[in-house]
Amino acid sequence: MIKFVCNDYNEMSSLASEIIAGQIVGKPDTVLGLATGGTPIGTYMELIKKRLDFSKIAIFNIGEYYPISNSNTQSNRFQLFDSFINKINAKRENVHTLNGEAADPNSECENFDKKISHMGGLDMVVLGIGLNGHIGFNEPAERLILSCHLGDLTARTIEEHAKFFDADETVPHKSMTMGMGTIFAANRIVLLANGANKADAVSQKFSGVITTTCPATLLNLHHDVTIIMDKAAASKI
Ligand code: F6R
Repeated sequence: MIKFVCNDYNEMSSLASEIIAGQIVGKPDTVLGLATGGTPIGTYMELIKKRLDFSKIAIFNIGEYYPISNSNTQSNRFQLFDSFINKINAKRENVHTLNGEAADPNSECENFDKKISHMGGLDMVVLGIGLNGHIGFNEPAERLILSCHLGDLTARTIEEHAKFFDADETVPHKSMTMGMGTIFAANRIVLLANGANKADAVSQKFSGVITTTCPATLLNLHHDVTIIMDKAAASKI
């Protein structure tokens, strides 16, 4: 594992964008798994500025609330397009998101995994980390699921993500997420964390223990993880 502690969010975003850009330049048909949420927005902004060629890149968004309307500005799909895809030259047919309106979320998840397998798996996945150590929407649990699946969000995540929704809106209580198996099969994993509120989750990641009750700890078993944090997130390591 390679660990970087940056001075602040901007430095973290800039470094992460360099690492992702290196991957894209080195393999112009990279298959990328991308998180949404607040953490990677600066990274995506930096990547946009680089004016790289994304025309051969395939992108898989790693999660989606369920149910949620595709036009809801808080859906992961909307967020990914708004913060990144609409500003790069990726081909729309190469961008894959989970449909929060799917009538059958289980087959939506199954198809998502099939598409990833068809591409030969992910070359790189870019993750954030939840306050409770979730990655994607793989929430702390006794058992974690390898494949893409519909699952319940924990009360803590619902509360954490309420910041994205209007006060009168209900935060969805379920999500579809790329599973731990797919994330772990990625050749490279980049984990981003910023802010003092992530310090506890990050310190668990570095505690030398692995546990499904903090899914991020399992990243210690992957052969190629780069974790990029700001000082605040790294303050309890
Ligand atoms: C969302 C996702 C989540 C977030 C995590 C942190 O696609 O994968 O795991 O990365 O909830 O969210 P932020 O970045 O908003 O703190």
